[in-house]
Amino acid sequence: MSNDNQQAATDARTAPVAVWALLSKLRGQDLIDWRVAEVTGRASVEERKLDIGFPFGWYAIETNDFVGVGEVKPMRYFGRDLAIWRGEDGQVRIIDAYCKHLGAHMGHGGKVHGNLIECPFHAWRYDGEEGTVKEIPYARAIPPQVKRRCTRTYPTTEANGFIWMWYHPNGEAPMWDVVVHDEVGNPEWTDYEWHEWMVYGSIQNMAENGVDVAHFKYIHGTADVPAAELRWGEWGRGADVHAKMGTPSGMVDGKISYDTMGPGQSWVKFSGISETLLVASIAPVEEDVLRVRYGFTQPRAEAEGPMAGLAKALIRDICKQLDQDKVIWDRQKYEANPIICDGDGPIPQFRKFYSRYYVADAALEAAE
Ligand code: FES
Ligand SMILES: [Fe+2]
Repeated sequence: MSNDNQQAATDARTAPVAVWALLSKLRGQDLIDWRVAEVTGRASVEERKLDIGFPFGWYAIETNDFVGVGEVKPMRYFGRDLAIWRGEDGQVRIIDAYCKHLGAHMGHGGKVHGNLIECPFHAWRYDGEEGTVKEIPYARAIPPQVKRRCTRTYPTTEANGFIWMWYHPNGEAPMWDVVVHDEVGNPEWTDYEWHEWMVYGSIQNMAENGVDVAHFKYIHGTADVPAAELRWGEWGRGADVHAKMGTPSGMVDGKISYDTMGPGQSWVKFSGISETLLVASIAPVEEDVLRVRYGFTQPRAEAEGPMAGLAKALIRDICKQLDQDKVIWDRQKYEANPIICDGDGPIPQFRKFYSRYYVADAALEAAE
């Protein structure tokens, strides 16, 4: 380890920028609280032009342990009140919360009956696939309007330690599968280390950050932006970034591989300093509210060995970058026709690609 190298690592950062001054006052619990505190006094969704609906895709909404067999819980995502339950068959199901009978919220006091959800008010029982009423214990006949699809249900799956929910504004079926990471749950890799934020902005603005080349200097203080090799797939996109990273043990060749599958699944693999997989859960609650969780997993040999300090430092640095971006995202508006200059990076390409996740004329299904 040489001092010169430590110096080089420090010098790679420009002088503190405005958001750093704001964040530098926050330490320990204050920082953790700031990350999830409500940002009040923000402009309306309409004023910020965030009223463009939610992009369709699979979203990691909760961790697997959120709902056990026989349990019902309320949830709110995509601007909707929802009820989630796990049937006796172990499957997670999600339904719009409000009962078609007299409007009770089934997430509060609802029960699991076999694989059905039972409304707490008069025990109407819904299935989680067809969105129909299967049983009304006190009635001789089920009204025909609820014998057919009368409410919205959402496809679910479980992978990578998360419950995934498929959201499509028109209720269309999943168009791709969730990508499974072998590292998660592998005994040679650590359990997730969690970090959590509420971001008061849109998921599209957040996603654009990765291709917004110029902000790295002004928000993150990166001296040069290393060239990225971009990958554009059918539903996913990604980038490989090769960078020299300054560490206490010298400059190392680092590689950052970023990938997405749809708007709701993204992960980053870091190699060089310390092998790290970041699995992101970014789930829209409202058009201007995102729940963000980062789960980090690392090979135990690195995270628990003599390199533990480096492994931790890498996680800290990634979280710090999100803190810095959050200051912008919390107040950012969506500029549909941005004025772009050279040096801005492939923002127009990103926008063109991302537009595939929106439905041109999202007409919510008749089941509303
Ligand atoms: S309101 Fe749900 S059963 Fe009556
Ligand atoms: Fe950023």
